[in-house]
Amino acid sequence: MWDSLWVDVGLATMAGTDPYGRIEDGAIAVKNGRIAWVGPREELPGRPEKLAAVVQEGEGGWITPALVDCHTHIVHGGQRAGEFEQRLMGASYADIARAGGGILSTVAATRAASLEDLVESAVRRLRPLLAEGLTVVEIKSGYGLDLDSELKMLRAARAIEARVPVTVVTTFLGAHAVPPEWKGNADGYIDFLCDEVLPAAVEQSLVDQVDAFCETIAFSPSQVARVFEAAALFKLPVKLHAEQLTDLGGATMAAGAGALSADHLEYLDADGVAAMARAGTVAVLLPGAFYTLGETRRPPVERLRKAGVPIAVATDSNPGSSPVTSLLTTMNMACVLFGLTPSEALAGVTRNAARALGLQAERGTLEAGKVADFVHWSIDEPAELAYRIGFNPCTTVIRNGAPTLS
Ligand code: NIG
Ligand code: FE
Repeated sequence: MWDSLWVDVGLATMAGTDPYGRIEDGAIAVKNGRIAWVGPREELPGRPEKLAAVVQEGEGGWITPALVDCHTHIVHGGQRAGEFEQRLMGASYADIARAGGGILSTVAATRAASLEDLVESAVRRLRPLLAEGLTVVEIKSGYGLDLDSELKMLRAARAIEARVPVTVVTTFLGAHAVPPEWKGNADGYIDFLCDEVLPAAVEQSLVDQVDAFCETIAFSPSQVARVFEAAALFKLPVKLHAEQLTDLGGATMAAGAGALSADHLEYLDADGVAAMARAGTVAVLLPGAFYTLGETRRPPVERLRKAGVPIAVATDSNPGSSPVTSLLTTMNMACVLFGLTPSEALAGVTRNAARALGLQAERGTLEAGKVADFVHWSIDEPAELAYRIGFNPCTTVIRNGAPTLS
């Protein structure tokens, strides 16, 4: 006997060969927090009431895998609306960063914030994402940039799991910017991260994966390589902010290190695409940052497609380049700005986002045996999710087999 069974729904399983993995008149069953059965209703092995303790009517809507936001900086102090104003008056993101604003202004605010402030403000920003059917969020450090503040950020990220129904994947991003104390000595700062901060964070079980910002205004590929070597000592998976503003060959380097993902990628070249394809590195596109910074160079979507590189889409939620707290809006941006199809956008926030976090065996598609995290939407067809702007058709979020909101 199953715990519950949904009928009278379309299923976008995001598995198989069809772009959505569509099952028009489907059924999906849950047992012990896992998907027990999924398929066409007519293939159910009996009458619904005989099969499950609870039968849910989907009323003709659609069920998709729950959403995964695989790249965020949602834990941080302060906000940067002033910079938004400055950019609109002509300053560039890089100008502001070089003048000590940008990431470093959030570093000051994050250092000044208490752990509780960080948790509280991040939870407030997470709520709209949860209301859109998010059940997994990746959260980076990188606004502390000293031992205590990096640990504080990671602890705040972990603490979120106890406050709201979400699974948090934490990422150590100490190599986000050179902090003021290390100005002019980026190499010394990298040593400090590798020798002191990362080991302390790992020791306290605060790190699931390791990231770095590879950019002319941040760290060079050889500095990033040292961070990746330190991650390898702890057997932690790596990923990289690469080719956002310039092409430093970061994605090729990340792929060579077996990275789970390379993220941003507006300036990715053909060699980078080929290296990612060979390594199975996911391309995480962040249209919220492209949109907010008014960028014009788009990531090479057609090349990524042709090479078979899995494409994920994430909010990059952060106070500077992407003050975005909606994955549905981000899906729309990925379609309108980058030319993804609505099914690619949905795969980007489900199947491929799970893969960018190394969670593909457990999450990201509707398949028997996977964690029963899925969303019921009041929509006529799955393309509606990427099509509307500012409308949330989510009716029910199921996490570990049980509803989180109705
Ligand atoms: O992903 N690129 C680097 N980090 C963030 C921006 C962080 C910030 O501006 O505060 C990003 O866009
Ligand atoms: Fe980022």
